[in-house]
Amino acid sequence: MQISRNDPCWCGSGKKYKKCHLAQDERLAEMELAGCLVPSRDLIKTDKQIEGIRQACRLSNDILDMVASRIGVGVQTKEIDRWVYEYTLEHGGIPASLNYQGYPCSVCTSINHVVCHGIPDETRLRDGDIVNVDVTTILNGYYGDVSRMFMIGEPSREARELVRVARECLYIGIEQVKPYNRIGDIGYAIEQYANQHGYSVVQDYGGHGVGLEFHEEPFVHHYGEREEGMVLVPNMVFTVEPMINMGQYHCLRLDDGWTAVTRDGLLSAQWEHTVRVTEDGVEILSE
Ligand code: MF3
Ligand code: CO
Ligand code: CO
Repeated sequence: MQISRNDPCWCGSGKKYKKCHLAQDERLAEMELAGCLVPSRDLIKTDKQIEGIRQACRLSNDILDMVASRIGVGVQTKEIDRWVYEYTLEHGGIPASLNYQGYPCSVCTSINHVVCHGIPDETRLRDGDIVNVDVTTILNGYYGDVSRMFMIGEPSREARELVRVARECLYIGIEQVKPYNRIGDIGYAIEQYANQHGYSVVQDYGGHGVGLEFHEEPFVHHYGEREEGMVLVPNMVFTVEPMINMGQYHCLRLDDGWTAVTRDGLLSAQWEHTVRVTEDGVEILSE
């Protein structure tokens, strides 16, 4: 049955439909008729859900601050895993990665040519390594997903440059997040910038809706064309997490079923935030 103008809005705000989502729904209906992919209502979070996701993101970000204060030459990646596990539980959270589809650890640690999903083990970080630490925490049932690069000792100039440009790619992608832009606008901006610096963008992995589950719709490509893919609307929540390669974009997955590495063995770097589409732009929930 169709909702009428004076009914309570479907979003649960308690406001009348005409004062809440009516105008947005009309605009999206037009876009859909014109052939655009529009988000289903369940991809639009309520204020209460957003506050929960914000708290989960804050905890994940605090965990990365804790890691930052301890990481360095000689640290084993499994020590990072233990720090994350203990800190998460001490702060009332659950590591989302642990046992996720059989993943054995609380965090991903991806060193040098590892693109993502590196599994902590006895490996010790060495002077010159670059490493991504990716933390997802469940707090009160909500998910927050964030990752950063860490430079161990003194990486080469080219490694430091890759890490810097990968971070810029994240923020250039996030700049495209605003109502009625498209998922493709994010990927297009990232790929252009990466290519300008002589780097390539990984295609096998991407960002994702997040909040009530670890991985929700939409899939967020970090390459692509403007004005393609799902339309963005206020209160969608998803990650942007480009993986930028020094050489070719191709990846291989190791026999452990998780670790993704560059096919050419060259370096890869990644930064990630969880973001929310606001009424006129974007809120980074994980900083
Ligand atoms: N945190 C990763 C992401 O950004 C997913 C890790 S899944 C795991 O999507 F199982 F490997 F932890
Ligand atoms: Co993610
Ligand atoms: Co992540």
